[in-house]
Amino acid sequence: MIQRDKSQKPQKIITSAFAEEDAVISKFEQTLRPRTLAEYVGQEIVKKNLIICIEAGRKRREPIEHILIHSPAGLGKTTLANIIANEIGANIRITSGPVLEKQGDLAAILTNLQNNDVLFIDEIHRLKPAVEEILYSAMEDFGIDLILGKGPSAKSMRLNLPRFTLIGATTKISMLSSPLRDRFGHTFKLNFYSIDEIKQIILRSAKILNCEITQAAAHKLALSSRQTPRIANRLLRRTRDFADFNAAKIITEEIVAESLSALGVDEIGLDNTDRNLIRFIIQKFHGGPVGLNTLAAATSEEEETIEDIYEPYLMQLGFLDRTPRGRIATENAYKHLGIKWQTKDSQQSLL
Ligand SMILES: Nc1ncnc2c1ncn2[C@@H]1O[C@H](COP(=O)(O)OP(=O)(O)O)[C@@H](O)[C@H]1O
Ligand SMILES: [Mg+2]
Repeated sequence: MIQRDKSQKPQKIITSAFAEEDAVISKFEQTLRPRTLAEYVGQEIVKKNLIICIEAGRKRREPIEHILIHSPAGLGKTTLANIIANEIGANIRITSGPVLEKQGDLAAILTNLQNNDVLFIDEIHRLKPAVEEILYSAMEDFGIDLILGKGPSAKSMRLNLPRFTLIGATTKISMLSSPLRDRFGHTFKLNFYSIDEIKQIILRSAKILNCEITQAAAHKLALSSRQTPRIANRLLRRTRDFADFNAAKIITEEIVAESLSALGVDEIGLDNTDRNLIRFIIQKFHGGPVGLNTLAAATSEEEETIEDIYEPYLMQLGFLDRTPRGRIATENAYKHLGIKWQTKDSQQSLL
């Protein structure tokens, strides 16, 4: 029996919202972040289309068109934005929707751009409408209209901007207004990764981190990584700590199993919150539908965390359906928890 590292905090592997580790994690993510398209694992269709649009820009000697990238969290949007800038040899300026509070905040960034620069706006669905408005003309005509002064003496002034490329990233494309969405030349969706691709990412990261891991261990870790590179890297990091703590030189399947069980992560990557969530829908609501706010209250998680972090993978597994009336647990979810599946009708006929 391998001794458990008591310092491991089980519940945080998936959301990892705790501040004291944020800085460490982001530094860790930086080291593992691929810098070129060739290093970027998977997403073959997106990569192929990107190569075409980068080449076209190069031939025409023009900046590439604005790009929108959407996917659930941790699938590689920020990484891809940085890679695009790197591949076209451009500088990248990084900001995010919630940070841009006033029109002036965005205007200051836009007017400081140089020709060819990439402006990356993360969480672009969270832009305030007033701020979003100045993006329209910036994207379309490379200019912004600033209003100087107030009241009847106010004057409008046109400022020309350099030819830049906007890359927007979002986890919620449905929350983007259509005028904004329409101004992107390309929209790319990143999908969940295959187990093999996640395994490749784990082996690549292990190499960078100088830690030895067997093929079987990497495969086992991949199965529990929610088909998500960020989680794969995090689990690898925790497993490496676990191996160090137990003075193991190589990460084996046994170490992975022990480490995952200490973290409360099961063989398909679900943690306690995931299981509580579906168990709650099944046991308290006979499989649903249940509203998001009820689920949030029952699991003590923020609605946003449930929507952005937990649900996408549960839906990918086919454990959960979103309907207009709320969330429904599917037959697969019952099976995974070992609960006998009954349709609403059969439950009613039992009464
Ligand atoms: N295609 C990929 N190949 C290798 N590593 C990846 C890939 N996509 C993401 N990663 C890793 O996962 C981490 C999270 O990716 P990130 O781009 O921050 O996701 P997002 O912005 O979509 O939330 C990165 O630090 C990177 O190391
Ligand atoms: Mg990101």
